[in-house]
Amino acid sequence: MGDLEEIVQINRLALPENYPVGYFIQLLKDCKSASVVAEIDGNVVGYIITRIEKFSLTGFLTGKYPRGHIISVAVHPEYRRLGIGYQMMNYVVSKLKSMKSIKEVTLEVRVSNEPAIALYRKLGFKVDKVLEKYYKDGEPANLMKLRLQ
Ligand SMILES: CC(C)(COP(=O)(O)OP(=O)(O)OC[C@H]1O[C@@H](n2cnc3c(N)ncnc32)[C@H](O)[C@@H]1OP(=O)(O)O)[C@@H](O)C(=O)NCCC(=O)NCCS
Repeated sequence: MGDLEEIVQINRLALPENYPVGYFIQLLKDCKSASVVAEIDGNVVGYIITRIEKFSLTGFLTGKYPRGHIISVAVHPEYRRLGIGYQMMNYVVSKLKSMKSIKEVTLEVRVSNEPAIALYRKLGFKVDKVLEKYYKDGEPANLMKLRLQ
């Protein structure tokens, strides 16, 4: 929570999806254990915010399973291509894996966002489906999933 201001600044610099500060606070309170910041010399240079959600595997049975949902990922523009995004994603995936009940990690990414899609593929994420008009400007999202065992 102490890094909130820098997280919000990087979010505004890096992404068109700029959530209200209150939403970040709510997410950080809910899921501290699977969110992360990267720091260099005490300055925040990247973050990942994750939410743990319950979902039904079949859509109609009553069983609910927790999954990790990666809500927002960004690295400060001056610190890209240094392995920071990969290191943070690896940390989050390992952390979610260590919570034994979590069987999958999901995220949405713009279909045009080649750097991010390449990052997620490198970690083993696969495109599950395309969500048409997912973003406010009408761009579709790739829904990507990683199975954890
Ligand atoms: C996507 C993002 C988080 C990557 O962070 P990063 O620290 O620069 O990434 P890394 O240096 O760890 O790169 C890891 C892998 O990602 C892929 N990648 C990262 N940047 C890339 C680029 N510009 N072009 C192609 N592939 C890229 C590569 O596969 C790379 O592995 P490699 O170095 O072995 O080729 C960063 O570009 C960013 O903040 N973008 C703006 C915000 C954003 O799009 N967030 C995702 C929203 S879903």
